[in-house]
Amino acid sequence: MSNLIHLNTDTTSLVIKAEKSLPEILYWGKRLPEDTGLDTFFEANHHPVPQARIDTGTVVSLCPEHARGLFTAPGLEGCRHGDDWTPEFSLSETTMDGHRVRFLCHDPRAALQLVINLGLNPGTDVLETSLTLTNQGDSGYQLRKLTNTLLLPTHAREIMYFHGRWTHEFQTERKKLDRSGFILENRRGRTSHEHFPGIMIGQPNFSETSGKVYGFHLGWSGNHRFHAEAMSDGRRYLQAGELLMPGEVELAPGASYSTPTLYSTYSNKGLNGISQNFHRHVRREIVRFPEPGKVRPVHLNTWEGIYFDHDPEYIVQMVRSAAEIGVERFIIDDGWFRGRNDDKAALGDWYLDEQKYPRGLQPIIDCVKDHGMEFGLWFEPEMISPDSDLYRAHPEWMLHTDGYDQVTIRNQYVLNLQIPEAFDYVLGRLDSMLSEYDIRYIKWDMNRELVQPTHNHRAAFHGQVQAYYRLVDEVRKRHPLVEIETCSGGGGRVDYEVLKRTQRFWASDCNDALERQTIQRGASYFFPLEITGAHIGAKLCHTTGRQHNADFRGITALFGHMGVELDPARASEEEKRGFAKYIALHKSLRHLLHTGNYFRCDTAHKESQAWGVVSQDQSEAVLMFAQLAMPEYAMSATVLIPGLDPQKQYKVQVLENSSSDIYMKRCPPWMVEPATMSGALLEQVGLMMPVLQPESAMLIHLEEI
Ligand code: GLA
Repeated sequence: MSNLIHLNTDTTSLVIKAEKSLPEILYWGKRLPEDTGLDTFFEANHHPVPQARIDTGTVVSLCPEHARGLFTAPGLEGCRHGDDWTPEFSLSETTMDGHRVRFLCHDPRAALQLVINLGLNPGTDVLETSLTLTNQGDSGYQLRKLTNTLLLPTHAREIMYFHGRWTHEFQTERKKLDRSGFILENRRGRTSHEHFPGIMIGQPNFSETSGKVYGFHLGWSGNHRFHAEAMSDGRRYLQAGELLMPGEVELAPGASYSTPTLYSTYSNKGLNGISQNFHRHVRREIVRFPEPGKVRPVHLNTWEGIYFDHDPEYIVQMVRSAAEIGVERFIIDDGWFRGRNDDKAALGDWYLDEQKYPRGLQPIIDCVKDHGMEFGLWFEPEMISPDSDLYRAHPEWMLHTDGYDQVTIRNQYVLNLQIPEAFDYVLGRLDSMLSEYDIRYIKWDMNRELVQPTHNHRAAFHGQVQAYYRLVDEVRKRHPLVEIETCSGGGGRVDYEVLKRTQRFWASDCNDALERQTIQRGASYFFPLEITGAHIGAKLCHTTGRQHNADFRGITALFGHMGVELDPARASEEEKRGFAKYIALHKSLRHLLHTGNYFRCDTAHKESQAWGVVSQDQSEAVLMFAQLAMPEYAMSATVLIPGLDPQKQYKVQVLENSSSDIYMKRCPPWMVEPATMSGALLEQVGLMMPVLQPESAMLIHLEEI
């Protein structure tokens, strides 16, 4: 068999057949030895043709075609006013550049060109794919769907997907992948809390530490569709792309449409392998810090501390208290601009409220800088309140459909960034604020979904997302040293495309440490800790009404890009000591947390969970063990710690424990005095855990001796 493309990393191989028709994945999994007679192997093994089916057999290519008798979801759907709806492509040219391959394909009858781009990153094991369709005809082509398709092996039989809502992001659920298929659709116009564009598919019962698993993530901050299916012949595939509305994309002669990039990775070491590959990819290929190598500064965000109640003199007191507890970046959240006294007005009027700030922002910024901190400010640039000067001047800038009433969500509308004047206005306001003041950080929020977005008489989800990217890009071009956080009512807009332009995401508006344990665990499948915003909130959590001590809140917020979100000026001395302790601890551990390999442990009891980080050289690790709910059993279980060096001896000691030991007459001895254990024992035999109080956690440090 000729024309086999064989891409390798240290651990993964991808074999693609590229002959006359669209390319097809023959193998994707654990690295194959080279020169093992691949050609003859695949010749002999592939494509038996069952009875009562297409006589020549069918191929699930990187863009499946109905035209070839494949009765599954096609990779491309569209038409030219009814015609050219079932294209059939042939491969014209294959070009390789290192680990990247470009397949150029044509259908002369339908006058369409399709380019399939694919790259297996040798340093991260992540496969990037995207497709571009170009209309080579002389009339418009109405595109309904263009999506990435990857054929999976038959042992990929179980799905883990993510769901959520405001204050409850990144929840996981499992499902069998069978003939009924699996569809995940997002129509909310942002990445969404509800349908995070990521999915894991693997061997039944794959776990954190074992099993063959494939991980997928679509880098797109708008509508999307994931479709996985076990076909009637037993083959399995995953499709992921943008979900287009009717008429949303019409390609004029010569015009192109490209899919968002699908990021995929394989591991035979369970979910930890997947997330470590994804984290490496985010670190090396996605996130760009304005000042690489700079430590991630600890935040104070004013939101839950003062909400809309901005008094500059009081804020200065907060700044001083923040500095005392060790904060390094002070961010004024919502409420600083003209007329913004609650969430019912003023979005769009991005001018400092001079009634609240009669002396401007400068005295506060000076105070922040005098205390050795950076200053950050909140914006929600894509929005417009019906009660705003901007709306009164330009009601036509609202993103809507003529002839229908637009709903409000959180009392606000969306600004149509596809109108050049609206785009320029908001860019101008951001530019002016960032030029006038020394603002080093933007919290860029987006607090509502798109409903009936129409522009130029067409559905305009796609256009709005593209315009948003352009807006952030332009802001960054003009202010390259400003760091940007992506926030959308918490974790409603985080994906690899937005992370190419931002350096942090706000994982959730829920600062309840117990909820955060699950939310941060869910986010950890795709995102490394240094970009995951995690704050210590007030003792009485504002979104759940639960109370936790500073230790449980501190241990939980430690595993991320840490901050506090409360009013330190009003906090008790005891609380403040707690914040200071965890901020100091975070600073002493962030070299490890923000560069090491993150792992989750498989815990035997569902009421507890454990995660940790091992340094790249395996000389140091930190482990968190959390008791989420009342222990079912009188004794806890051992936790196996993956990723240490089996040959090395480690000193194991407790750093912090938020639980009182009321459940234990005798604790495991390593809790009383540091113990020495080998990496092999810790991984294979594990560490016997104590029984902790529900809603508490413990922090353990491991250091090579
Ligand atoms: C959203 C964000 C919060 C806060 C508020 C301000 O809900 O997620 O963190 O910034 O907006 O209105």
